[in-house]
Amino acid sequence: MSAPAFSPVSRAFAADALGSTVRLRGWVLRTRSSGGILFLVLRDRSGSVQVTGRRDVLGDEAFAAAEHVQIEGSVAVEGTVAEDRRAPDGREVRASRIDVIDAGEPFPIFTDQTEEFLLDNRHLAIRSQESVAIFRVKAELLRAFREFFDREDVLEMTPPILTGNAAEGGSEAFRFDYFGRPGYLSQTAQLYLEALLFPHERVYALTPSFRAEKSRTPRHLTEFLNLEAELAWCDFAGLLDFIERMMVDVLHAVAERRAKELKSLGRPPEELLAIRTPFERIRYAEAIDRLVKLGFPVHFGSDLGTAEERALTLESHSPLFVTHYPRELKAFYMLWSKDDPRTVEAADLLGPEGYGEIVGASVRETDIAHLKQRIVEIGAKVEDYEWYLDLRRHGNIPHAGFGLGVERVLRWMLRREHIRDTTPFPRTPSRHTP
Ligand code: 4AD
Ligand code: MG
Repeated sequence: MSAPAFSPVSRAFAADALGSTVRLRGWVLRTRSSGGILFLVLRDRSGSVQVTGRRDVLGDEAFAAAEHVQIEGSVAVEGTVAEDRRAPDGREVRASRIDVIDAGEPFPIFTDQTEEFLLDNRHLAIRSQESVAIFRVKAELLRAFREFFDREDVLEMTPPILTGNAAEGGSEAFRFDYFGRPGYLSQTAQLYLEALLFPHERVYALTPSFRAEKSRTPRHLTEFLNLEAELAWCDFAGLLDFIERMMVDVLHAVAERRAKELKSLGRPPEELLAIRTPFERIRYAEAIDRLVKLGFPVHFGSDLGTAEERALTLESHSPLFVTHYPRELKAFYMLWSKDDPRTVEAADLLGPEGYGEIVGASVRETDIAHLKQRIVEIGAKVEDYEWYLDLRRHGNIPHAGFGLGVERVLRWMLRREHIRDTTPFPRTPSRHTP
């Protein structure tokens, strides 16, 4: 009879596994030996289990080889599942055989190392239990977004990353040589999504956005995942409605499906489940009033930076919409408000607990004259936007859209001090390796 197939490590904890023989393979989380007995904790993607190996069972040679396996070395184990009250989770696998796949070199990562060292060794540090939990939650969040868009009949699009002009103005775009002409890494997929909206009406894209911002803050990356959508026939009320429904839907889905990981990362899932629609909405002008009362030296026209956004949401447990920003503070494509032409029909969604902006949204300007005026005001060239202006010349319709910073959402959800924890290989002004 051939040997049984490999099982996931979690098999050892199945109700009917006691007394059965299992074959497992994976990496060594911890190891120690004393006398003629070796303990190693084996992990794979399904979990971890204690394995014990006895010299008198394995034989001298195999025992010595297994003893030399380093942390993160890889092994295959065959053994019997047994109850053991001292073992984590109450079970262990008593090995009849341990095959070393790669004993490995001493693993350079252990506790109490500097943040810098861990970032230099990010390719190895991402094996930590904490990293594993973070990226399971991230995958679940992305899945939840896609499921939501599917249900809402919003179609996924694949806009380009290499572009010929800087979509939102030149200063923060990464520029490179594109066969002798300037090329730019995409700052946003929005303009392409707006073009794709005419044939498809409801579109979204999940693409990296690049920002050459020197800002070294705990919430800025130079490469982040931008989840962007454009919705035909959508007005401002419909837009805010869509965003808050989406947020509650995905937060609840992740809280339900990744409760264990959330707990281990310091975010009780109940806190996410408690978030409900509608979110509080205040106008920018009211935000300024609140900030003045809190002692901030701001006035109508001041940009809301990290400190201001933090102050606005520090005490709240639910996201907050700030709407109707002054035109000059916002991108050229936002609709001028009818009721107050100093402002645009735009909203930023601020994460609770002081985390700040997680979504930027607006109704899109349909008036070509307004668009041209704003393009000139931001110091860009109208001819660079001719193709975009064409969209207003052929079946122009009201529409609205938004962009959500995936890592910003995670930073808040997972209570991380720094946004870099939420992406496996963070790109910041001081780092683009490993
Ligand atoms: O607010 P932003 O710049 O808006 C746009 O790019 C629009 N064109 C989106 C759209 O309407 N389609 O970026 C969208 C979101 C922000 O709300 C923020 O959450 C996140 O992207 N973001 C960043 N995340 C990490 N690092 C950065 N440097 C970020 N800049 C923006
Ligand atoms: Mg923004």
